Amino acid sequence: MNKKTVSFLASGRGSNFTVVAKKIIEGDIKARLGILISDKESAKALEIAGDFGMKSYHVNPRNYPGRQEHEEAMVRLLTDAGTDLIVAAGYMRIMTPYIIGRFRNRIINIHPALLPSFPGVHGQKQAFDYGVKVSGCTVHFIDEGTDTGPIIMQAAVPVLEDDTEDTLSARILREEHRILPESVRLFCEDRLKVSGRKVKII
Ligand code: GRF
Repeated sequence: MNKKTVSFLASGRGSNFTVVAKKIIEGDIKARLGILISDKESAKALEIAGDFGMKSYHVNPRNYPGRQEHEEAMVRLLTDAGTDLIVAAGYMRIMTPYIIGRFRNRIINIHPALLPSFPGVHGQKQAFDYGVKVSGCTVHFIDEGTDTGPIIMQAAVPVLEDDTEDTLSARILREEHRILPESVRLFCEDRLKVSGRKVKII
């Protein structure tokens, strides 16, 4: 099987990116590391990518007249790097149909709630404030909706009596760090088959 090239989009601290990149470097995920792109100059993820010896780019949306032009610049970099899979690891911008169409079923996102509940920003806080007894995280392919794409894996965690938003978020993050690399590994082994809304693990 040809090794796939995995690139990343991240806006922040980059803990999910770190976990996946480490597994690729250590050979637990048989893939090639591509590039990392951030929309935020201050993103810790950019620094970490440098430590891993990866090419990383700050592609500033402000330098482009619109969303699509910004994505065109990203797609050029991703394509030049031979990207097969994009991992959105805490990438906080809504993607347009342009990049989604160019990488149909090849962009994976991690969301910190059990979709279809609590899509959009602050999934952990939304669930905590709502008073659910179980929350968790979801890895899914990105489609044109907000957190609506076909679901690859989910993990549930309990909401405990004395939880705060922070303790719940930390419990969810531990599961994110488990199911995101696992989903990337399955993709890289050609074991994810998408049919409509369903993702079959083969
Ligand atoms: C995670 O909670 C993820 O679910 C959400 O953004 C956060 C990113 O965290 N999409 P990190 O940058 O991976 O540490």
